[in-house]
Amino acid sequence: MKLAIAGKGGAGKTSISGTLARLMARRGRRVLAIDNDLNPNLSLTLGIPAARITGLPTFPAEIVRRNQDGVYELAMSLEEICDTCSVPAPDGVSLLVAAEPREAATGCMGSMHMAVRGVIAAAPGGDDDVCIVDLEASTEHLLVATAEHADAMYAVAEPYGTSLESGRRVAVLARDLGLPRVGLIANKVRGERDVATVAAYAERHGIELVGAVPHDECFHHAERALRAPLDHAPDAPAMRAIDDLAARLVAGGRLRV
Ligand SMILES: Nc1ncnc2c1ncn2[C@@H]1O[C@H](COP(=O)(O)OP(=O)(O)O)[C@@H](O)[C@H]1O
Ligand SMILES: [Mg+2]
Repeated sequence: MKLAIAGKGGAGKTSISGTLARLMARRGRRVLAIDNDLNPNLSLTLGIPAARITGLPTFPAEIVRRNQDGVYELAMSLEEICDTCSVPAPDGVSLLVAAEPREAATGCMGSMHMAVRGVIAAAPGGDDDVCIVDLEASTEHLLVATAEHADAMYAVAEPYGTSLESGRRVAVLARDLGLPRVGLIANKVRGERDVATVAAYAERHGIELVGAVPHDECFHHAERALRAPLDHAPDAPAMRAIDDLAARLVAGGRLRV
């Protein structure tokens, strides 16, 4: 299963991706988590110790090449890429951080998107494997088709106008890209009324609502302690909600909440 997590900045993509990756690993899946944000923070929500999150390895420049048709393709096997730059995270998750720019004014990062696109395509697609990609807030990844080879794209959205609207834009473009499954994950919901707001919005726009995660102070407490929410508050309501989503995703059945 290859999942891409998108949505507005601050909606909770990284918090949910990191937690979901580990909870799917605890359910017996081999999980490859990819940080596709140029401002990468997935390592912390995955539970990599704070002392180690600075200067993690990133994709080498030679990871992609242009073939004779001018199309970008991976120049290394997934195994070589993982040997070169994957970082072990708790629960057996492997993390790949695509890029962390260290110099200003060095140009755009199109090749990073092409590399992530290639890695998603190369990742194993069977039931025992999960590849989960934490995307950037911008919808540029949809224009350059970074997650074209994912099985599903879920937009994390808070229960208010611009966040939902950002989720809708993601859903429209993800469908246009041909992704088989597109949905919304409601996050930071404060009660049934918020869930109903997101559900009504999703229904109005014909988008599947696949999960709802409550607003939970555990995220802020964990961040202050520089720890993963799952380590800091494993029994918090939000962790249980993400575990419920993990269970339904690995079961592969009906997702709609
Ligand atoms: N369910 C939640 N309840 C409360 N705060 C949350 C929740 N999910 C995420 N947050 C907080 O919201 C902020 C943005 O989350 P983050 O995962 O970094 O978003 P994104 O990756 O979409 O930019 C962080 O401070 C995080 O701790
Ligand atoms: Mg993020």
